[in-house]
Amino acid sequence: MSDRSPNDAVSGESALFDGAARAPEVDAARVTGGSPDNTHDVIISLEDVDVYYGDFHAVDSVSVPIREKEITAFIGPSGCGKSTVLRTINRMNDLIPTARVEGSVTYHGVDLYGGNVDPVQVRRHIGMVFQKPNPFPKSIYDNISFGPKIAKYDGNMDDLVEESLNRAALWDEVKDKLDDSAYALSGGQQQRLCIARAIATSPDVLLMDEPASALDPIATLRIEELMYELKQDYTIIIVTHNMQQAARVSDRTAFFNIDIQNGQRAGRLVEFSETATLFTTPSEKTTEDYITGRFG
Ligand SMILES: Nc1ncnc2c1ncn2[C@@H]1O[C@H](COP(=O)(O)OP(=O)(O)OP(=O)(O)O)[C@@H](O)[C@H]1O
Ligand SMILES: [Mg+2]
Repeated sequence: MSDRSPNDAVSGESALFDGAARAPEVDAARVTGGSPDNTHDVIISLEDVDVYYGDFHAVDSVSVPIREKEITAFIGPSGCGKSTVLRTINRMNDLIPTARVEGSVTYHGVDLYGGNVDPVQVRRHIGMVFQKPNPFPKSIYDNISFGPKIAKYDGNMDDLVEESLNRAALWDEVKDKLDDSAYALSGGQQQRLCIARAIATSPDVLLMDEPASALDPIATLRIEELMYELKQDYTIIIVTHNMQQAARVSDRTAFFNIDIQNGQRAGRLVEFSETATLFTTPSEKTTEDYITGRFG
């Protein structure tokens, strides 16, 4: 494990990468993630994953290994299939009638698209946090207890609510108003509430699709600090348009692009590397062009 502290995300005091000047769009002083120690097992494996929406081939032959208790970032221009690939990992694409997934997605060796697999169970193990905070129109307390109740949680609900809010770094701000509507919270607080809600059902993996894009810089840094803390216990995959954010928080980065072959546009994985490598010495010219802001 790395010995980074969560505060490194905001203090920017850790060592710079050699050659970081090759990526001027990324503030090297804030590049603190990205050199994982390779001791973590691969727990999710996407192999040759294709996704179609009707006849439209949105994602072409993507293979990515996801390691336990690391943060993996998906980056790339709009429409390259980041959200689509993310949704294959907890079968959220099942909810889109035209979507069809081919190839293999395994979780701890189990084929997530196998005949006996219940997508609802998949989503309990692999939770999701969306771009726009989406609390239920209920109290803060009920937002957290909702999922565990459905899952027939038989422990102490008050303790679970407190622990979940604590883990999402929200407890101190809401402990005196648990019965207030979740809508009374700020956007950043609502997003932390959604993270607490996702954690409350004890998932193993958290998928985060641009979790901070609707937030101000301070709330964004809080979410990033939180991710550092959560990766002690969770495997996290984050989609982000913010390259500084990918560089700050993630251990590995997958860069996707829209590729046109035989007149057909499809999202493809261009490069998957340790984040430090991808942002300083990418192996593909297209990656370099993207991270230096030449397109996208
Ligand atoms: N529900 C859907 N029905 C039909 N086409 C879709 C659907 N969702 C996504 N697509 C198409 O699939 C392609 C990939 O979309 P996706 O949302 O995965 O991209 P993205 O990389 O997440 O983009 P962004 O950065 O804008 O969120 C796009 O061409 C998009 O229009
Ligand atoms: Mg998206």
